[in-house]
Amino acid sequence: MTKKVALVTGASSGIGESAADELMKAGFTVYVAARRTDRMAPLGERGAHVLALDLTDDASMVAVVDQILAEQGRIDVLVNNAGYGSFGAIEDVPIEEGRRQFEVNLFALARLTQLVLPAMRAQKSGRIINVSSIGARFYEPFGGWYHATKYAVEGLSNCMRLEVAPFGVKVVLIAPAAIRSEWHGIAGDSLEEASGSTAYGKYARRARKMMDQAYKPSTSVGPEVVGEKIAKAATAKRPAAVYPVGKGARMIRSSVDFTPTAIYDAAIGRAYGSR
Ligand SMILES: NC(=O)c1ccc[n+]([C@@H]2O[C@H](COP(=O)([O-])OP(=O)(O)OC[C@H]3O[C@@H](n4cnc5c(N)ncnc54)[C@H](OP(=O)(O)O)[C@@H]3O)[C@@H](O)[C@H]2O)c1
Repeated sequence: MTKKVALVTGASSGIGESAADELMKAGFTVYVAARRTDRMAPLGERGAHVLALDLTDDASMVAVVDQILAEQGRIDVLVNNAGYGSFGAIEDVPIEEGRRQFEVNLFALARLTQLVLPAMRAQKSGRIINVSSIGARFYEPFGGWYHATKYAVEGLSNCMRLEVAPFGVKVVLIAPAAIRSEWHGIAGDSLEEASGSTAYGKYARRARKMMDQAYKPSTSVGPEVVGEKIAKAATAKRPAAVYPVGKGARMIRSSVDFTPTAIYDAAIGRAYGSR
């Protein structure tokens, strides 16, 4: 029987690396892609096909999908996992950086999806697995750009799920809570760089401490927990539309929906010292 083929973006670290391992365990031929190909060499030794990918470069995305289709003639699962957290007060973060955040977290996800859908429609089957966040519902000061991208990922995915269903293609959202990876350091550093010494400095430094707190072992989980969930989303006969994953993920997502905005704002504002 032909092996199913998966592409995992952002596999040089964290969730993407774990997802690639879990998909290989589940029997997929796995292509892994990121800018740092050296960091994916161990995955290559474990059987993955390693490709260079820069999500801010259209030609790079086209080349990756072309190579997979040329070598395998099919693509069954796209895991749009790559992304980063750009933090800082909206007043402080240069608009150019806001655009870059959307380029990587949203537009590249949409572009790769466009590139794989013709093959999936021809096969009459396929799965697009988009890594969102609890931050697509939950919100906090200094996370404006990041949260905006994840809200957008969910809006886009929900519409697309209905569009591609007639062609046998399923769209699944993965919504992680705090996961120990490189994400937290990159997000925290961006917050300090953007707002650590501006009018927002006092609150930004407090927010960084809260972020550090959230990534302690007692309140976070390792990336393998998400990797396993992604493999489940890729293999379940009837996958859920959304898989919350990590400590408190389900509760945090739904608590925002069921809490009046004024009460939510007061609680979060008090926690961050801005009210
Ligand atoms: N960790 C969390 O707490 C958490 C929670 C909710 C959601 N998420 C989401 O989960 C996903 C994976 O994050 P993670 O926690 O595994 O973070 P991570 O360890 O920082 O990994 C991020 C991956 O994205 C890739 N990437 C970043 N910019 C890229 C670009 N321009 N082109 C190609 N690849 C790029 C990185 O590869 P290169 O740098 O090598 O290119 C890396 O492999 C992200 O979408 C993140 O927003 C994470």
